[in-house]
Amino acid sequence: MTILELYILGKKEIENKNDVLFLFKSIFGFDRLGISLNSDVKVTNQQEELFLNKLEQLKNNIPVQYVVESVDFLDFNLKCGEGVFIPRKETEILVNEIVKKVDKNFNGNIVDLCSGTGSIGIGLKRRIEKTNVFCIEKSPKAFEYLEYNKKSLNVDINCILGDIFSEVNNFKDRMFDVIVSNPPYIRTSDIKNLDANIQYEPKLALDGGEDGLYFYRKILSTWKRKLKINGFFAFEIGYDQDEEMKGIVKNENLKHMDFVKDDNGYNRVCICS
Ligand SMILES: C[S@@+](CC[C@H](N)C(=O)[O-])C[C@H]1O[C@@H](n2cnc3c(N)ncnc32)[C@H](O)[C@@H]1O
Repeated sequence: MTILELYILGKKEIENKNDVLFLFKSIFGFDRLGISLNSDVKVTNQQEELFLNKLEQLKNNIPVQYVVESVDFLDFNLKCGEGVFIPRKETEILVNEIVKKVDKNFNGNIVDLCSGTGSIGIGLKRRIEKTNVFCIEKSPKAFEYLEYNKKSLNVDINCILGDIFSEVNNFKDRMFDVIVSNPPYIRTSDIKNLDANIQYEPKLALDGGEDGLYFYRKILSTWKRKLKINGFFAFEIGYDQDEEMKGIVKNENLKHMDFVKDDNGYNRVCICS
């Protein structure tokens, strides 16, 4: 088969044409232009088999990021796969907002709670080089990706495998300038209604308890004592959670709160102190 024949086959089988392009990029290194410039090139049997195998995975709704085992985030690429949450575009807003709020030469402590692949912690360390970043993740599988990404991107961050609610007690003498988290925030009862491809992501990464807000309440109440006087919390929240978040923050007697909107006009980042 030629490159073009495989491309046409892929487009016929898969509804999301971008996913087919992702596959081409990962297997052959070609983008759309590369495909048209190399349309007559014959692929090897091995390449064809690999492509068809991955196409089958896409047909079974396995997320394309798992199929190609990588995801772009900000200006870098993270390894991801089954067992770890796929970083989303919205989370880039959270990282950018923190970068805006601290000086480029900021050398304080940041802790990224519920780190997954390390998107937030790694993103912050790459942008604010002198900062001291700690990442805490509970799932051993997700932690493998975190460690892999730390090494492959050569970032000097501290990765801890553990539960954020018990690990807090191990930071005896350390206080934080920024406590950031994109925790699980889907209501337990909503999980079964999410798209078929999201069902492949770990429940531990999605389940935010009965009202989806369990982690915000518990992070604020357990980590508040670790926040420096001029420090702040930064959270990603669900598109419909801003009003409830106001109540949660008020209950913790925090004085300041700001929201940052996503491209659809929803409040998706909550900064509070
Ligand atoms: C929504 S994902 C976010 C991952 C990453 N921060 C990102 O934005 O791409 C939430 C992560 O929290 C982890 N997690 C859930 N409960 C945890 C806990 N009690 N302690 C530490 N990590 C936890 C999950 O395994 C998952 O990796």
